Amino acid sequence: MSSRMLYSSLYVIMVLVSCRYVEIKAQQLQVGFYMQSCRMAEFIVWTEVQNAFKTDKGVAAGLVRMHFHDCFVRGCDASVLIDSTSANSAEKDSPANSPSLRGFEVIDRAKTMVEASCGGVVSCADILAFAARDSILMTGGPGYDVPAGRRDGRISKALEASVGLPPPNSNVSQLTQMFASKGLTQEEMVTLSGAHTIGRSHCTSFSNRLYSYNTTTMQDPSLDMAYATQLKQQCPQGSTDVNLVVQMNPSSPNTTDVGYYSDVLANRGLHTSDQTLLTNATTANQVNQNAANPQLWKNKFTAAMVKMGQIGVLTGTAGEIRANCRVIN
Ligand code: HEM
Ligand SMILES: *[C@@H]1O[C@H](CO)[C@@H](O)[C@H](O)[C@H]1NC(C)=O
Ligand SMILES: *[C@@H]1O[C@H](CO)[C@@H](O)[C@H](O)[C@H]1NC(C)=O
Ligand SMILES: *[C@@H]1O[C@H](CO)[C@@H](O)[C@H](O)[C@H]1NC(C)=O
Ligand SMILES: *[C@@H]1O[C@H](CO)[C@@H](O)[C@H](O)[C@H]1NC(C)=O
Repeated sequence: MSSRMLYSSLYVIMVLVSCRYVEIKAQQLQVGFYMQSCRMAEFIVWTEVQNAFKTDKGVAAGLVRMHFHDCFVRGCDASVLIDSTSANSAEKDSPANSPSLRGFEVIDRAKTMVEASCGGVVSCADILAFAARDSILMTGGPGYDVPAGRRDGRISKALEASVGLPPPNSNVSQLTQMFASKGLTQEEMVTLSGAHTIGRSHCTSFSNRLYSYNTTTMQDPSLDMAYATQLKQQCPQGSTDVNLVVQMNPSSPNTTDVGYYSDVLANRGLHTSDQTLLTNATTANQVNQNAANPQLWKNKFTAAMVKMGQIGVLTGTAGEIRANCRVIN
């Protein structure tokens, strides 16, 4: 090969590599994505979340969980917001989301206000990511910039939510595996579980720990006795009321702090998936560190939220900007 041929082929390779690089760059989300196209977008979302939060602090927890459930199923593409039709049972109607997921009306109102200000520009997936960030901040948690530019998906299937979301009776190896399948590390799993410092849970999500742990033992021995007694009062055996709920991190259920980790250390993790973090030496150590060092947890948590918010995103010309978050265009 002549040196001229060598150089020209090297040149071609470099051009190809740089095009590939540009392409990858274009696919990435960006902080301030709507700065030119819809300058007020993030402010409008904040305002709507705040209005809802004033009347019901629980919406904050609802929105944080909704973002997680969106991202884990088909990526953060607002598939969780789509309503079922006669022909399709959507994610939100999976038992993993129904009747527990809440905050849909807040996203609807934010979308309406954003559309009125700049139509057809801001995705439902980004609105949800902003709303989750705002919710964490409103409950006293750390703030962070949300890279944006997500686009909305056109598919939502209940079955995918049922298999894609971790059930509350998962053990630490199952959780680790499930998060790994979304590109998240075991430590990020422990860090993100700290979101259970706010919100509520339905009795049905943990009553097996109180009444039917296994064939020989009724009550989960890893659950603190006094806490179990309290939970049994709140969740009577054989109750048919599927709407019964208890607060998570009862000492400060509306505050994003490291209370979750203190609960777990005190054997007061509500779900099996919470208490199981003490059964592995590595994750138990992280629980200890987070409980002792709120700033460390906050830093890890904001980074992990940003990373979770990038799972499987649609960008560029993929997907669509939904006009109504509940319906594909
Ligand atoms: C590690 C695996 C996880 C499992 C097994 C799990 C499971 C659950 C369950 C069973 C509930 C109670 C739902 C109900 O019955 O009302 C819940 C609530 C909640 N989860 Fe998770 N979760 C996990 C991870 C996460 C992550 C990563 C986040 C967010 C970053 C999160 C945020 C929340 C929030 C904020 C609530 C309260 C929701 C409300 O008050 O409406 N969870 N979770
Ligand atoms: C937390 O918020 C819920 C939902 O609004 C409310 O019912 C509860 O009283 C609040 N708890 C505390 C301790 O502020
Ligand atoms: C976790 O659960 C799976 C499935 O039930 C089981 O195979 C595995 O042994 C469990 N792992 C631990 C560490 O308990
Ligand atoms: C039920 O759980 C208890 C406490 O962990 C354990 O000692 C017992 O072996 C379990 N029984 C069965 C049948 O798995
Ligand atoms: C705990 O998790 C680590 C991964 O961080 C894994 O290598 C180890 O085998 C787990 N230990 C147990 C006892 O499951």
